[in-house]
Amino acid sequence: MLKAGHVYERFTLASGKKVTLRVLQWEDLDSLLFFINSLVEEKLGEPKSTLYTGFDRKVTREEEAEWLAQTLVAIEGGNVINMVAEIAGKIIANGEVAQGRYKDTRRHGQIGLTMIGEHRGQGVGRRMIDLLVRESRGAGLRSLEVEFLADNVIARRAYEKAGFKEAGIIASKVFRHGKYFDGLIMAREL
Ligand SMILES: CC(C)(COP(=O)(O)OP(=O)(O)OC[C@H]1O[C@@H](n2cnc3c(N)ncnc32)[C@H](O)[C@@H]1OP(=O)(O)O)[C@@H](O)C(=O)NCCC(=O)NCCS
Repeated sequence: MLKAGHVYERFTLASGKKVTLRVLQWEDLDSLLFFINSLVEEKLGEPKSTLYTGFDRKVTREEEAEWLAQTLVAIEGGNVINMVAEIAGKIIANGEVAQGRYKDTRRHGQIGLTMIGEHRGQGVGRRMIDLLVRESRGAGLRSLEVEFLADNVIARRAYEKAGFKEAGIIASKVFRHGKYFDGLIMAREL
């Protein structure tokens, strides 16, 4: 189990931007608030957004503080593997593996990973997924699953590259901007 603020990896993108992959910490509150509300704006305002579920309305600082406090407890309790990506002091992506809540699902993890639009497609997601897989294995997990919009080609490609296979399609799972979208579940053993 890793402590708040633990650095997994630092690397430089082709663009020259320096990326730090690390565990969340309490000092991230304001950066996280900006991050989450940028995603809310995208989902509410852009019909072509590839974001999955969640993000129904803007989050207040108090709500984000509550979420962060709970998440830090879950991280320190070994129930969640967390990883944020930071560029120039700002959080640009948040990823996690949530372990099953019951004794018999403890070795299964559910991935959630989201990135700010302007930083997508530059290889950060691949690095994060590979590291989340490595950390999950290290934590004794045996399987992982992830779910996103079926027409999200970047996500599909990123997870395929990391050894995930299509597990199923849930037709019309998401209704947004007057249209239905399919959900796609991908999974792998570790
Ligand atoms: C899904 C997500 C995490 C992927 O991270 P990313 O940093 O954008 O992805 P990467 O840059 O690592 O690219 C992943 C793969 O997609 C490819 N790709 C990138 N941009 C692409 C595009 N516009 N069209 C098709 N493929 C593309 C990359 O080339 C790479 O494949 P490769 O390794 O074979 O070259 C990120 O895009 C994201 O958060 N999107 C919005 C939220 C979301 O979709 N969440 C659901 C996932 S849980």
